[in-house]
Amino acid sequence: MTNVQNGPFIVTGASGQLGRQVIDNLLAAGAGPIIAVSRSPEKLADQADKGVEARKGDFNDPASLTAAFAGGKRLLIISTDDLEPGMRLAAHSNAIKAAKAAGINHIVYTSLTNPVEESPITFSGDHRDTETMIKDTGAGYTILRNNLYTDLILMGGGQSIGMGQHFAAAAEGKTGYVTRADCARAAAAALMQETGSSVLDITGPEAITQADVAAILSEVAGKEIPYIAIPTEDLVQAMIGAGMPEFMARVFASFDTAMAEDYQDVATGDLEKLTGQAGQSVHDFLIANKAALLAPPQQ
Ligand SMILES: NC(=O)c1ccc[n+]([C@@H]2O[C@H](COP(=O)([O-])OP(=O)(O)OC[C@H]3O[C@@H](n4cnc5c(N)ncnc54)[C@H](OP(=O)(O)O)[C@@H]3O)[C@@H](O)[C@H]2O)c1
Repeated sequence: MTNVQNGPFIVTGASGQLGRQVIDNLLAAGAGPIIAVSRSPEKLADQADKGVEARKGDFNDPASLTAAFAGGKRLLIISTDDLEPGMRLAAHSNAIKAAKAAGINHIVYTSLTNPVEESPITFSGDHRDTETMIKDTGAGYTILRNNLYTDLILMGGGQSIGMGQHFAAAAEGKTGYVTRADCARAAAAALMQETGSSVLDITGPEAITQADVAAILSEVAGKEIPYIAIPTEDLVQAMIGAGMPEFMARVFASFDTAMAEDYQDVATGDLEKLTGQAGQSVHDFLIANKAALLAPPQQ
């Protein structure tokens, strides 16, 4: 690896699935010192045993961030999971102000593919405005525009196999799915390497359609699972019928609309350039997770 940077490296959202994997990557590379910031630092005892300093920090409590970010040099801001309109942007704004006050000199941020005004994804504006705020700090930055997680296919893929049909409202649109594990590798590499200020599209090796996903599910199941393209409103009503609150159903349906309208049709070599290793394909990920896809549904 060229131009290896010194820490302290700070990772926010450190007890989340991505945060934990980023820290594991930093530890594996021997990078440090590592400061793990979380609303629940007590959940990080296992990482503290490996020399990671756990600190309490909550983006909704700006006062907590002064101590949390003190002494940091390179900071990863993991976007929060708060989808209530306005809440996430306010939280990110607090984190960015605290980073500036702490004198952080490089900010890495987990954004979203194509966070343009026209994107149908309901929370796309949170990412667009966060990117702008980070650029305005004057610190160096690496914006990682993560495409949709391949892991998301595990949520509905088992159900598609059970029903014998793969429903989506994505028409023939393609998505450059990327695994969470590959996003973690990218974030760790962006912390450790001098990349200058850049905006990278973190994607899998190729963009694929929902018909392609259905073909892989067919291979996993050992039987034909056809893709059935349905209208967006039918998808929303089906999710509500399955017990999902309407707000969340519309968030998930907006991913499908974004796929249908080609906003997710982005697959680049940025991940390989950054980490030296290409991302895992959807095919290889789903085959590796065959047992989870074929497990009986949880009641
Ligand atoms: N590209 C995609 O398809 C995709 C899919 C799902 C999520 N995402 C985004 O990527 C992020 C990481 O994904 P994940 O899989 O690790 O999700 P996750 O396991 O649900 O983690 C949620 C994260 O949000 C953090 N968080 C929530 N509220 C916070 C607050 N007030 N202050 C600071 N941090 C807060 C949590 O940190 P602590 O609990 O440690 O404080 C945790 O790291 C998500 O939060 C979401 O923005 C992207």
